[in-house]
Amino acid sequence: MNQSVNLKSTDSIDVWQHAIHQAISSITWPANPAPLYRPIQYTLEHGGKRLRPMLCLLGADVLGGSMDDAMPAALAVELFHNFTLLHDDIMDNAPLRRGRPTVFAANGANAAILSGDALMIAAYSQLQAYEGARLSQLFSVFNRTADEVCAGQQFDMDMEHREWVDTAEYMRMIRLKTAVLLGASLQMGAITAGASESAQKCLYEFGVLAGLAFQIQDDVLDVYGDPDSFGKKPGGDIDSGKNSYLRVRAMEVADEVTREALLQWYSSPSGETRIREVKKIFDHLGVHQMAIDHMNALLEEARINLFATPGANGRSMNRLWDFSQTLVTRRT
Ligand code: IPE
Ligand code: IPE
Ligand code: MG
Ligand code: MG
Ligand code: MG
Repeated sequence: MNQSVNLKSTDSIDVWQHAIHQAISSITWPANPAPLYRPIQYTLEHGGKRLRPMLCLLGADVLGGSMDDAMPAALAVELFHNFTLLHDDIMDNAPLRRGRPTVFAANGANAAILSGDALMIAAYSQLQAYEGARLSQLFSVFNRTADEVCAGQQFDMDMEHREWVDTAEYMRMIRLKTAVLLGASLQMGAITAGASESAQKCLYEFGVLAGLAFQIQDDVLDVYGDPDSFGKKPGGDIDSGKNSYLRVRAMEVADEVTREALLQWYSSPSGETRIREVKKIFDHLGVHQMAIDHMNALLEEARINLFATPGANGRSMNRLWDFSQTLVTRRT
């Protein structure tokens, strides 16, 4: 393996976080052409939560694997995630991420496209640390997931042009755009540990269900988060006309008059007034609480899958379960 971090199962989550951070910082990028590689460094230096690599290490640990062995896969999923963000910010016309201008806003769409492409290639390069059966299993999960994320992003954009999307359709879309990558991160960790297919499947399902809750929380924070800690433009989903969880549920539970009002605000010019008025309707309908209830139900279902994982280490499983709570209690 090309990264030696000497992490132990008994180390705290903070120690693991630090090791992930160190491993990302020690990736070297060419100096030239600077407009291609600087945006990558800009994106990675401000980190974000590093949830996916953490899930990858936790997935390996639950099944008795070594963190050193799992680290290149953890880096692959984090680099891939950052690639998707660079392109996502173009698609969503987003000005802010992690409290700073997006690459799209600061350097333009072309820079975000090309730096994103280079990040994706760097993600694949990490997987070259593996060989034989593990490599082919990792590739197959990674490639399937990457295809699904693209499909999810397409569905998300298609839904921007629709007045009404039902909850089932919304859930299918977020499963693809977000949840499968969390599931795959855990599964890839499990693969590096040489886990059985049935154990991989339990962890994958657990991650997908927790990932659905994670994306619902993302939609909630977009409207109700503290702009300083969330680091993205407040009300961005309302501004760009997204069929977010809150909008989808609001359309489902509203009476006809309220539904008409909601649609009118969504077709009014984007900006502060639209955000404020849509939020008033969300508050009136109580969709925030519906989101919380739905997240709790998803986590409960996730828990059943996690604790059914054959051959899992009990202490590590409890730690993974505790960690998964932070996916929905997060403020950033
Ligand atoms: C943002 O993911 C994109 C979504 C799928 C909601 P994160 O909230 O994990 O982003 P960072 O990496 O911590 O900034
Ligand atoms: C992101 O969904 C999904 C992917 C990047 C694949 P969002 O568009 O909701 O993510 P944020 O809110 O911009 O981070
Ligand atoms: Mg998006
Ligand atoms: Mg976005
Ligand atoms: Mg979002």
